[in-house]
Order: sequence, then C-alpha cells, then structure tokens
Amino acid sequence: MPNRTLYLETMGCQMNVLDSELVEGRLRALGYEKIDDMTSADVVLINTCSVRDHAEQKVLSRLGALREPKERNKDMVIGVIGCMAERDPEGIFRKMPHVDLVCGPGELNKIPAMIEDIQSNRRRAIALSQSLSRKSTPLERALEYDSVEALDLSRDPAPSANVLQSYIRVQRGCDKFCTFCVVPFTRGAERSRPPAQIVDEARMLADRGCKEVTLVGQTVNSYINRDGDRPVRFAELLERVSAVGGIERVRFVTSYAGDFTDDIFEVMRDVPEVCEYLHLPVQSGSDTVLRRMRRQYTVGEYLDLIDRARDFVPGITLASDFIVGFCGETETDHDASRRLIERCRFKNIFVFKYSPRPATVADKRELDDVPDAVKRRRNIDLLRLQEGISLATNQSLIGQTVELLVEGYSKAALKAQEAEQTRGEEVSWRRSDQLVGRTATDRIVVFPGKETHIGRFADVRIEAATALTLHGTIIEASLRGDAVPGPNGMSLPVLNAG
Ligand code: SAH
Ligand code: F3S
Repeated sequence: MPNRTLYLETMGCQMNVLDSELVEGRLRALGYEKIDDMTSADVVLINTCSVRDHAEQKVLSRLGALREPKERNKDMVIGVIGCMAERDPEGIFRKMPHVDLVCGPGELNKIPAMIEDIQSNRRRAIALSQSLSRKSTPLERALEYDSVEALDLSRDPAPSANVLQSYIRVQRGCDKFCTFCVVPFTRGAERSRPPAQIVDEARMLADRGCKEVTLVGQTVNSYINRDGDRPVRFAELLERVSAVGGIERVRFVTSYAGDFTDDIFEVMRDVPEVCEYLHLPVQSGSDTVLRRMRRQYTVGEYLDLIDRARDFVPGITLASDFIVGFCGETETDHDASRRLIERCRFKNIFVFKYSPRPATVADKRELDDVPDAVKRRRNIDLLRLQEGISLATNQSLIGQTVELLVEGYSKAALKAQEAEQTRGEEVSWRRSDQLVGRTATDRIVVFPGKETHIGRFADVRIEAATALTLHGTIIEASLRGDAVPGPNGMSLPVLNAG
C-alpha cells in the first residue's frame, strides 16, 4: 500500500491527547505517515474541545484555513473528531462545507472505515453516539461491552513514540452534570473499563519502556468495575496498576471532590509508586456559586477534604480549577474564592472565564451576567494571588534535594538546539543542554544535564525558583534506572489546556 499522509492536531484535555494517540496508531497500521504540514496531507483530522467557546473558535479558524488546500486537492479528507463533532455536527457542516468527516469521541474506532468510505464513495461520513443510555447505573454500564473499547484495546504505540510517560484511560464520560459543563453531553454516560484491561495496558506500556502512567477519567475517583462478583473501586485499581513491574510512578486526573474517599489517600500514603499529587478542581470558593453549579459539595466539605489529604499524605501537593464570572458571581463570591486559595495553598491552579455552553442547564436557565472585563479582572486576580503562593512555596524548597524523573530537554533547550541546526548558530552549552524533570509531587525542575540522563530518576539540589519552575544541579551519583532513548522535551502537555 502506498504511503499516505496524515495531519492530526489535538486540542483540549488529556483524554483528547490519548484519543489522538489511539487514532494515529490505527491509521499508522493502515500505512499512514504523520506529517506536520496540514495543507499537503491526504487526511487532516482535528481532535476538538468544546469546554469553552474559545476552543471551538480555534477549530473553526483551523478549518477555514483548509478551504483553499481542499479546493486544490479534492481528494483531501478533512475530519472533525472529538467533543465539538459530537456537540454540533450540523453546525460544522453548515459553517465548513468542505468538511468530509464528523466523528464523536465515542466512535473513534470507526475512523479508518469512514475514511475508506469517503475516499471510495465521495460522500460525507458521520458517527455520533448521542443515544448512550443513562438509565442503568455506572456499574451496570461498565459491564456492557462498549464498542469503543476496541479503540483502547488496539493500542499500539509507534516504535518512535515517547512512552516514558503514558496516559491510560480508566473511565469514559461523566454523570455529574455540573450546570456549566458540556462534557456529559459530548462524552456521554460514565463507564469504567475492566481492571484487567487497564493492568494489561500498563504492562504492555511498561514492556516498551514506560515508567510513569497517568490514569485518566473525568472523575477518576468514582471509578467502579467488577472482578467476578466483587466490585473494584479506584483505590484497588491504583494498587493493581502500581504492582505492574517497571511502572515506577502512577498519577491520576481528574478527581471529583464530591465523592473522594479516604481509601484513596491510604493508597497514596502506603504505595510508593502512587504520586503524592492531587488535581482536585473546586471551581469556586462560594457556597452560593457551588450550589448553582450543582457541584455536590460545600466549601466546608472541600476544605475538610484538603485537610484530610494533608493529614493522610504528608508532602502532598494540590492543584485546582476555578471558573470566574459564573452566572451571578458577585464580588463577595469572588473574595470567597480568594480566601479559599489563600487557605489551601495549592501548588498551581487553572482559572477559566465562564463560557456559556449550549444545552447546559446554566445556559438554559441562567444569565451570563458578569461582563467580560470583570471576568478578565477576576481571572488575573486569582492567578496573581496564586503566583505569590507558588513563588513562596517554590522558594522554600531552595537548598533541598528532590527526586525526579528526567523527562527530556527543556523547551528553551529544544529551541536553542533548533536554532543551532537551522541557522548554524553557536549556542552555549548551558542553554542547549538544559533538561527538565518532574517530582512525584508534579514540580517541574530544570537543570543542566546529558541526553543519557533522560528516562532515569535522579536527585537534584534546588538552587533557584520562580513561581512555575525550580532550577537546580543534578547529583550524578544518584542517577538510577535505564535511560529511555527517544523522549525529547517535556512529554506531557499541560493539562486542562483546552
Ligand atoms: N473533570 C474534567 C473537567 C473537564 S473541564 C477534567 O478531567 O478535568 C476542565 C475544566 O474546565 C473544569 O474543571 C472547569 O474549571 C473548566 N470548565 C468547564 N466548563 C467550563 C465553562 N463552561 N466555562 C469555563 N470553564 C469551564
Ligand atoms: Fe464537567 Fe462536572 Fe463532569 S466539570 S466533566 S460535569 S464533573
């Protein structure tokens, strides 16, 4: 089969990153080669995010840029996959008539057949999973064989892929229906994968050099499946994945504060592989706002959970998400979010301006009444407040030694190396050999090192700190584990980037 080319761009969350990897694997098996030039590819797929309007606008502008290349090459197949495809298929075809393929996140295993159909029959192909029933319980659903599992089961990382740190899906969908959120509409009902499949996947990845897995789900801690007659919950799943030989670190995102149980803290404390890091979105520090968001916990309950996390797991770091300018949010509500940030001392936070999403309860029943300028001010305000906290905690680490997994070259080093190659520029050793690693607590550390350090664990002495990054010196004698060739630059994208 002649080589065909694929351009695949991923927007949004870690779930999309994983979905793209799986789709790419399927197409690679059919002879597709991934390229960086969108305009000359045989097949262009954009894996989309619908969480905020801004993310959808970005997709539309990307698709707009494909109009002209498609005029020139009528055989080009243009596909929109992921959440926006599921949310608004008609809108996509109406605004972008040159799109050939629309495929929701639950139907991605159909993509190879859809592309084939478009190429042979010159017609559009569409696959959505809107009909997913919510009548059964999450456990009952987990037991139903889900056609989409075929995608996870077919996982086959490219020989050149960086598997050092890999995502593993443990759950699909979400049943929480927070009033602002589109995810339950685009990703469907919550279903957890069988534990044996997850463990097998971890083993396959470990065999290829993976040392760190991140278990992903919209509300991972609500994971529930079965082993024979016995229910298996998230704490047990963490233990089972940690027991896989070669897997040295286990992370998980995202947790839901409404149903987080202490057995998970016990595993974080007792199982060395499980990282002492918890991403626990709170969204707001005001009970009135939380109630309108239907978050199913109060500020008091959230704070109590944070206290228990720190009691059970000494040294744990916490991260959170905030939405500013949700319908009816007052200055008093905003001050409450500030107080919560001061009290919790998160490692980092993600702050989003409220963006009304069609079909959600908030969009149907409430008024998006906070002006954009106010949203912007509150956004900056929370980030500034957090920056001070992050800086202070990072500076308190100066002089300490931390253990990290060396992930690759730092972004600055990659840029410097590129300049060296393309323009023949001399780049100082220190800049082009800056490596980056991450502690179990998800702190990012930059230090001078060698390519052979990549993929190994090492101790680094912290010498300087900014709010985002620690800088230090590697203690060479502490290096342990084998180097993993291939990783180049920070392998895991920033979460919640959508
Ligand atoms: N549980 C999911 C949440 C997905 S959305 C997870 O895996 O992270 C990620 C974050 O986007 C949410 O925590 C929330 O802070 C933000 N968000 C969701 N809907 C939003 C909206 N309509 N406007 C602004 N921010 C939103
Ligand atoms: Fe969205 Fe709330 Fe689920 S934020 S993904 S509906 S937990």
